[in-house]
Amino acid sequence: MRRNKITIIGAGNVGATAAHWAAARGLGDVLLLDVVEGVPQGKALDLSQAGPVDGFNNRVVGSNDFADSADSDVVIITAGLARKPGMSRDDLLAKNVAIVKSCAEQAAKYSPNSIMIVVTNPIDAMVYTAFKVSGFPKQRVIGMAGVLDSARYRTFLAQALNVAPRDVSAMVMGIHGDNMLPLVRLANVSGVPVTDLLSAEELAAIVKRTQHGGAEIVNHLKTGSAFYTPGLAAVEMAEAVLTDSKRVLPCAAYVEGEFGFSGCFLGVPVVLGNNGVERIIEFKLTAEEKAAMAESETAVHKQMAATGL
Ligand code: LAC
Repeated sequence: MRRNKITIIGAGNVGATAAHWAAARGLGDVLLLDVVEGVPQGKALDLSQAGPVDGFNNRVVGSNDFADSADSDVVIITAGLARKPGMSRDDLLAKNVAIVKSCAEQAAKYSPNSIMIVVTNPIDAMVYTAFKVSGFPKQRVIGMAGVLDSARYRTFLAQALNVAPRDVSAMVMGIHGDNMLPLVRLANVSGVPVTDLLSAEELAAIVKRTQHGGAEIVNHLKTGSAFYTPGLAAVEMAEAVLTDSKRVLPCAAYVEGEFGFSGCFLGVPVVLGNNGVERIIEFKLTAEEKAAMAESETAVHKQMAATGL
């Protein structure tokens, strides 16, 4: 049996961290690809040498040549510029659209049957870019954001309640930007609604902190943005695809009528399996939630228009 092959495009902080998580989880052979000579090779060689200590048997290889990515099962696109303090994700759009365009074209050429996971910011526009240029069906192009934003939301809720983070179940929908929608009504701790455990003021502060969770880290780092959890979030999605687990994760998926929205990528709960997005799980939103999603949709369409695609 052939091992799974995961190509990670971009050997910067997010790409290298995704490679780390993918190797440590034994997801398959990992190819780290970057245009900068030496960086993917050096990082991959270093990471491969963790195998005997950590106990993983998969190959981790670095390359500057797209041909080496041939026949990947999953391609994770992280290439692009990251945010600096004061920059919005939208400020990156013009530069990153050109990068993601060429990455998605090459990835589609060499791995025509792969599932693409897009991490480059602004994610909702970049996943649309990859969808357009790859020619892949909507099920096979997915944007990472909901897993990361929900992880932040769950972490803040867990800290406020002093409970184990994994027992907090909570979801963020919509755009990966200031208009994202952390759902309060559905957030719970092992089934107990957080609205019974925290005050409205406490919850409002957690929602706000989640919405600006990326910027909080950029402001600390000053030279870039978050990478540990963004890298892991992409790998969590890749694992669900590769193991056909049918996990339900919030992802940027192409909507065609779901939740009343169409023609764009929007963060929604999806079932992930071998075929990529196997289903979008639709449920009834309150009027307030629907209005927040509509704001996300407007912002995503604005970003999409700016891609010129
Ligand atoms: C963040 C970047 C990945 O939210 O957008 O940290």
